[in-house]
Amino acid sequence: MIEILVGAQWGDEGKGKWVDILGEQAGIVARFQGGNNAGHTLIVGGQKIVLHQLPSGVLRPHCIAAILSGVVVDPVGLVAELAEVASCAEVAYDRLWISARAHIITPYHVWLDERLESGLTRPIGTTKRGIGPTYMDKAGRSGLTAVDLMELPHLEAWIERRCAESADFAAHYRDNPESWEAFFEAARRVSPYICDAEAKVRAHLRGDAQVKLLMEGAQGTLLDMNHGTYPFVTSSNPTAGGAVASLGIDPRKVSKVYGIAKAYTTRVGEGPFPTECQDHAGQILREQGAEFGATTGRPRRCGWYDAVAMRYASEVNGFDGILLNKLDVLSGIDELKICIGYQHPKYGRLSEFPSQPDVLAACRPVYRYLGGWREDIRGVRALEDLPLAAKNYVTAIQEFTGVAVKFIGTGPGRQDFADLTVSLLN
Ligand code: GDP
Ligand code: IMO
Ligand code: MG
Repeated sequence: MIEILVGAQWGDEGKGKWVDILGEQAGIVARFQGGNNAGHTLIVGGQKIVLHQLPSGVLRPHCIAAILSGVVVDPVGLVAELAEVASCAEVAYDRLWISARAHIITPYHVWLDERLESGLTRPIGTTKRGIGPTYMDKAGRSGLTAVDLMELPHLEAWIERRCAESADFAAHYRDNPESWEAFFEAARRVSPYICDAEAKVRAHLRGDAQVKLLMEGAQGTLLDMNHGTYPFVTSSNPTAGGAVASLGIDPRKVSKVYGIAKAYTTRVGEGPFPTECQDHAGQILREQGAEFGATTGRPRRCGWYDAVAMRYASEVNGFDGILLNKLDVLSGIDELKICIGYQHPKYGRLSEFPSQPDVLAACRPVYRYLGGWREDIRGVRALEDLPLAAKNYVTAIQEFTGVAVKFIGTGPGRQDFADLTVSLLN
């Protein structure tokens, strides 16, 4: 059984928490795209753990963690992460499968990311982890794959070839011996995990019809290279189609696709964001939601729930349901807003998410106003225990998005959620 969990907005929706929760019933948890630009926060036994590359099922001892072909891997970061989780989870070689097809981020790609950003008149606001440059090399068919990491002669041949092709690369290699030494050491430590991860996952699914594979998206639908707010996107496909392409599987074998969304919206980095609140409301959301990047620490831009963008995300992914997160953050706000349409100065009222970022940037949100609630709902586990205004808010989200809300997040911990599949709203 394959379930795909994707970010429905611009990332940081709380994917790590939900993968950790739903991972209890999964045999395999797989990351299918992105790299250490991701920061997925888990709270386990009161301890906060931020995962960047390891799948969020890694802290469930029975779960196999797979890093599939669509991911870009930073070996130095991965070794540090493995050391960080060592006190909570033992990650033996047979429990972490890294695809031999995955591409590798080198110190050069990290340097190039920084350099490209500083040269842009309209920077993207990347995480500067080398993500874009590594996917550029992959698309240009000159990248370094995990297979090359496993054998020193392969790695040396790749470096030699790149130095011959690119004076910039050669200079970086010559002038940064320490970072390359750390890279070689990390490559040696990561190598034993590299395997034909896709074949192993498929074989596992074939061998046991009951086993559940949870596919963990990084980033979010609106950062998708094809379907997001290009060029203000990441360089991969965080959507459900990206999961299928990364594993290589019959798409009809996917049982469910869930979209994870905040009960409001955030964005890190540049790009259009119609419901952004640059006033007091934005500040309240940032403070109450602790909206600071898990990877870069940057303050997240905050705004109201955007049902137009969410309908679009649902169409792109085919959501079977929404996991509506961080509802507790809205407690104490007297008036809440849900964006139900856009008003464009030239094209008038739009009910569809536009394909051009400049059109989206010029859109003003059309809001539906809802009453808030004062009660602290942190940790509430049943729909019945939510104040009426909170239930109304969830119902409105369901209605304007056109997708059922299956779970509600009421806090950052493993226990902080209400399961609506047992008490559906009507
Ligand atoms: P991800 O990248 O999608 O995994 O999300 P992040 O970890 O970057 O950001 C989500 C943040 O919200 C983290 O700090 C989580 O601990 C926190 N969080 C997750 N779910 C909830 C929730 O339901 N309520 C509150 N208040 N915080 C949550
Ligand atoms: P998770 O998985 C939020 C954003 C960056 C930038 C753009 C491109 O934690 O939700 P990149 O470094 O990928 O080339 O940057 O994408 N971005 C994220 N925003 N959450 C993330 O990951 C992100 N990963 C990248 O801020 O705007
Ligand atoms: Mg994050």
